[in-house]
Amino acid sequence: MISTVGKVLFLKNIELFSQIPGEDLAQIARITDELSLEDGEVVFQQGDPGDTLFFVVSGTVKVTRGQAVVATLGPKDVFGEMALLDSEPRSATITAAEDVQLLRIQRDDFHDILTEKAELALGIIKVLSRRLRATTARQYDAP
Ligand code: CMP
Repeated sequence: MISTVGKVLFLKNIELFSQIPGEDLAQIARITDELSLEDGEVVFQQGDPGDTLFFVVSGTVKVTRGQAVVATLGPKDVFGEMALLDSEPRSATITAAEDVQLLRIQRDDFHDILTEKAELALGIIKVLSRRLRATTARQYDAP
């Protein structure tokens, strides 16, 4: 069980929240809840409706589309932002690649803080840009 102080310390080290002052992080920490999964457990499936954003506290998760592994995400990484932002179904399946601890935020709560904090919106755009860049490089660059 992670305390609110522990959550604040964790969020402080996430790039997405690096520009957010401590007192606001405490408010964000209070609207997160914790989820622990064992190796092999599925967080959600490609095609599911999605209204939750996740942060990896410890362990790693696999992002898969069909049989293909798209990415492996570890501590401080965020996932689930796409369905949250565009209300489309989940673009990939997320599976615990070892025992993992996650924090999650519900869509309405995240939207509330997103509309108040421009820095957070910029952080999400950065995450999306980085992923698009990596996907483009993988698809078009010579191996
Ligand atoms: P979402 O579509 O809500 O659910 C699946 C999640 O996998 C997606 O949000 C992203 O967080 C993550 N994801 C999808 N594609 C990639 C990618 N190319 N690289 C890293 N993560 C991804």
